Amino acid sequence: MDSDSFKPFEFDATLKVAAESSSLKSVPSKFNFSNERTAFTSDSLPVVDFSALVAGDPHQCSKAVDDLAAACREWGFFILVNHGVPETLMDAMFRVMKEFFNLPDSEKKQYEAKSASDPIKCGNFNVANTSNQSFTLWRDYLKLYVHPNFHCPHKPQLLRDVVLEYTQITRKLATKLIEAVCEALELNQSYVEEILKMDSSFQMFATNYYPRCPQPDEAIGIPPHTDPGLFTFLIHNGVAGLQIEHDGKWFNADSPHNSILVNAADQLEIFTNGRCKSVKHRAVVNEEKERFSIVVANGPSGEAVVGPAAALVEKDGGAKYNAMKYEEYVESQLTKSRVDGKTLLEQQMIFINNSN
Ligand code: OGA
Ligand code: NI
Repeated sequence: MDSDSFKPFEFDATLKVAAESSSLKSVPSKFNFSNERTAFTSDSLPVVDFSALVAGDPHQCSKAVDDLAAACREWGFFILVNHGVPETLMDAMFRVMKEFFNLPDSEKKQYEAKSASDPIKCGNFNVANTSNQSFTLWRDYLKLYVHPNFHCPHKPQLLRDVVLEYTQITRKLATKLIEAVCEALELNQSYVEEILKMDSSFQMFATNYYPRCPQPDEAIGIPPHTDPGLFTFLIHNGVAGLQIEHDGKWFNADSPHNSILVNAADQLEIFTNGRCKSVKHRAVVNEEKERFSIVVANGPSGEAVVGPAAALVEKDGGAKYNAMKYEEYVESQLTKSRVDGKTLLEQQMIFINNSN
């Protein structure tokens, strides 16, 4: 690959058009990425009951806090139920996202990404494989920065309202989950607020469209990665495709209708000095059904310099990660476009030579 000509962002109508063509029998070469998408199915994925976290009953609440802390420690992932997000809002989101991807290319092209930090971006994404060849992900996306400043395309008409409502609700849920995790780790809440500055939390919204794929083992929606931020929330249109890594194996992240899939993300692993796991995950594609996912990455403030919490560093006898300003972290992760090598999180790790 000629690195000067490599562009991670691209606006190209071929994915949607090609995938919709019933004559497409194989994956066009630019999307070619062989992958093994078989995964285990577990009936013991962690579940966290949000209503118990906020209920007045101290017994219920402490059980929910324990469940949350265990899920973050063992899986870095859980299924959030009784979260209070209206089903009608979720349905409206999927309808309007579908409308967005169906807009004419001339309309969408104005949001073609020019740089990683554009607050509104849409198109396809290129990555480099282990042999340094570029390939395109089997996915169209729209990504928006929604807090502290709200950015959103003007069309379709309802997009702005539903994205605003959904991201406000999920931001509140995320803040409560962070408070609960920190409570379980006995971190002082005012210290947590001083470092993470959740009032100005940097929140990103993304929607992914994965068309049906004629050869699902020869293309991938999103290769294995971890997310920036504290907690990522994901909902989908009832078509499975998210897989998570656990104990060195891949698992299907199946979810009951109306639940939210939540994963701990890099800044939570860093802040908790490794107690919460930022789990590796990927999105695979399938032959039968198109899939939409709606993803909200809930971060600390862009201004927050996130390193391991002082009290945990003291307990552990050292910091396991370097600190970095969140806005810089996001920018470096967005411009990283290789599937091999270390993730940005792994690059932040400090390996303490421990003779024990
Ligand atoms: C992401 C992501 C998975 C999916 O957008 O970061 O991991 O299933 N998406 O769409
Ligand atoms: Ni992700």
